[in-house]
Amino acid sequence: MGASWITTCSPWSAFATLAALTTSALVLGYVSSSLLGQQAAYEYDDAYSPDAEPSGPAAPPRRGAGYPPVFAYYITGGRGDCLRMTRLLKAAYHPRNRYLLHLDAGAGAYERARLARYVRSEQVFLEYANVHVVGKGDALDGRGPSAVAAVLRGAAVLLRVGAEWDWLVTLSAADYPLVTQDDLLYAFSSVPRDLSFIDHRPDSETHHVVVLDQNLLQSTNAEISIASGHREKPDAFDLFRGSPWPILSRAFTEHCVAAPDNLPRTLLMYFSNSLEAKEFYFQTVMANSPRFRNSTVNHSLRVNVPPPPPQSAGQQARYDALVAGGAAFAGRFGDDEALLQRIDEEVLRRPLDGITPGEWCAVGGGEDGAGECSVGGDIDAVRQGAAGRKLASLMAGLVGTAPCGGCNS
Ligand SMILES: *[C@@H]1O[C@H](CO)[C@@H](O)[C@H](O)[C@H]1NC(C)=O
Ligand SMILES: *[C@@H]1O[C@H](CO)[C@@H](O)[C@H](O)[C@H]1NC(C)=O
Repeated sequence: MGASWITTCSPWSAFATLAALTTSALVLGYVSSSLLGQQAAYEYDDAYSPDAEPSGPAAPPRRGAGYPPVFAYYITGGRGDCLRMTRLLKAAYHPRNRYLLHLDAGAGAYERARLARYVRSEQVFLEYANVHVVGKGDALDGRGPSAVAAVLRGAAVLLRVGAEWDWLVTLSAADYPLVTQDDLLYAFSSVPRDLSFIDHRPDSETHHVVVLDQNLLQSTNAEISIASGHREKPDAFDLFRGSPWPILSRAFTEHCVAAPDNLPRTLLMYFSNSLEAKEFYFQTVMANSPRFRNSTVNHSLRVNVPPPPPQSAGQQARYDALVAGGAAFAGRFGDDEALLQRIDEEVLRRPLDGITPGEWCAVGGGEDGAGECSVGGDIDAVRQGAAGRKLASLMAGLVGTAPCGGCNS
């Protein structure tokens, strides 16, 4: 019910949340031990503790030929984003996938605890044990290199907790899916799993501003500051720029996190003084790596939400613009409740405050969108609809034109 959902994220439940966490040793995923009254213990290289999970997943996804892929989602938000994040999680949920939710340092411990409590309160998330909450938020400014550092940290955690996944999808709390997960899994079943989807173009600017991102140095959010002076374009590598929300293959993600080749590391240092580093980092690493350049599609499968019209008259056109392109995700949504609700009803068929239904739902979740999803269904089967076929054909077109050796398998 909508009411109980709102209660879950309201400030009033914060004390109950803390009490619940304090009295229970069972903390899902990465809820920081600072909530248990100790110093924050979660760090980059904390060992992942399987004991922290209730009882292991009800049914791990089957993988390999003939089975759909697995996505790892890194969803990031800031102060006040708890509600948006839970809504996005429900809209984009599938038991096959992994989800790592990150509220940055701008959000308080209460809000993070509320989010963790919400995750623990949903039976499906507990049964499949595939939703994790970062216990201590990173300080970041979305325009600075700290945002890249946060994504790399999230990717490293996901590589560790989600044993096997195929693609990393990074979303902000203000984004939303435009297809069901069944449709997304169906569409991605048709392409080679080493493909990345990174919209990119050569950067035409010749002088870049130099910034100082204090978030790399401190534990609370700070605005980045612009330093005086500019710097010339480098000549050791070519700069590329594109959407800050790419979909990365597991191989490419590992390449950036583990950096067996020095390039990802060198570029991390180069971009540590750059504005909009998230629009450059993955794009530039990829485009300067012969191995990954050949397995990248120049598209992020995303659309931008058109700005709100002055009158409500333009709403229909906005909705049409979003769904017409056949993209998988859209962002950023402002206070677009009407638009989101329409996507819930007409595209995702998500019941009020429920999880987007799919073939995996054991009961209910039919075309009528009634009934809540529950555990016990077949999570290795997906049911594609018109949106899935549209996305698959968009992808087939992109892959066909990609500069892509050996990816048409
Ligand atoms: C990627 O596509 C965009 C247009 O969608 C184009 O402007 C850009 O040049 C392309 N990037 C490359 C590297 O070809
Ligand atoms: C990438 O593709 C180009 C042309 O399609 C080819 O010449 C080159 O050898 C490929 N590189 C790798 C590393 O596969």
